[in-house]
Amino acid sequence: MTKEQGLGVQSAPDRKTAYVILGGPDDAQNFAKAGEILRNGGVVGFPTETVYGLGASVYCEEAIEQVFRAKGRPNDNPLIAHIADMDGLEQLVSVMPETARKLAEAYWPGPMTLVLPKLPLVPDAVTAGLDTVGVRMPSDPNARAMLREAKVPVAAPSANRSGKPSPTRAQHVWQDMDGRIDMILDGGQCACGLESTVIDCSGDGIVILRPGYITAKMIEDATGIVPTIGYGKDLGGSTPRAPGMKYRHYAPKGKLYLATGEGSLEEQCKAIADAYDSNFAHGSKCVILVTEQDKGFFGEREQILIGNLDDLSTIAHSVFKAFRDCDTKGYDLIYMRCVPEEGVGAAIMNRVVKASAGTV
Ligand code: TXA
Ligand code: MG
Repeated sequence: MTKEQGLGVQSAPDRKTAYVILGGPDDAQNFAKAGEILRNGGVVGFPTETVYGLGASVYCEEAIEQVFRAKGRPNDNPLIAHIADMDGLEQLVSVMPETARKLAEAYWPGPMTLVLPKLPLVPDAVTAGLDTVGVRMPSDPNARAMLREAKVPVAAPSANRSGKPSPTRAQHVWQDMDGRIDMILDGGQCACGLESTVIDCSGDGIVILRPGYITAKMIEDATGIVPTIGYGKDLGGSTPRAPGMKYRHYAPKGKLYLATGEGSLEEQCKAIADAYDSNFAHGSKCVILVTEQDKGFFGEREQILIGNLDDLSTIAHSVFKAFRDCDTKGYDLIYMRCVPEEGVGAAIMNRVVKASAGTV
């Protein structure tokens, strides 16, 4: 196991975690309470349009440390600072390059993080000692209401324990964080279901560090610049050469195996069915993550429907939930086909390959 898999220092559960369901008459009061907790150095799990975040005031190093402890995350991995509006940028960033300004105008608020030169007052604990800071202005109305009440930028990684799939429901945050944080705001399902696109605008050109809903094409449309891919495309190809070689991430407890993406639909499904059958015969509990397009191929074998290839956002929306459902149901082996790397498909494949243990 590597450090990235969660061998960082982990806190024992020793906090009382308040669980608040949003969407009722007490919302204003609950956002005010969450804001107060954040300003006073507490940690709050909150919904965004991408995934749930684990928030702490950028200025409170003790709270930032608790975020790393609660996640079991190595502290050399920087956090994203979340802001309610453009005024928040002034508290974080020393220069706003023209490319970043164009991207912010086009896609903020929204599922996009910009890596920018930081002001000295942003603590090293947030940026892992880098001279840049990742900034995001989320569009989710609950996230925005909480950020407005916090009145400080809120550093937040995804609210999962390190190595596990990102949470797209408040219940997932509860599973991972009960007793480790002060409050969870339940705003229902996340609209996108995958983390933001991380774009480095701090140097020459534009580099995509993590693919997401905001695609390379959308970045080019807004800026006129073709971005560089900076996220290890070799592992994210539709024919993964060595998935799981470095370390698993976003992963369910069961082992995930991908059809290589080569051959016809029938050939891929047959490869999965054969692997399923031989492991099932040896006593493994197996499941196939299917789409509308291939669900007819697997007969009585156990399946979870993850969406429709004609609309990849349906798969983005449910893939992390499917991984967590596999854990709940205790599957040992999970199979799925690759999706085309068009649009948000690049982001789906990036996460799926990182979560996988190999190919069939
Ligand atoms: O959608 C999201 O981005 C969610 C929600 C909560 O906003 N947050 C999230 O945070 O996914 P996290 O910590 O799980 O992932 C942040 C990614 C990491 O890969 C980190 O290395 C990168 O952003 N990152 C943050 N600051 C950076 C910086 N200054 N330079 C390069 N990469 C950075
Ligand atoms: Mg994460």
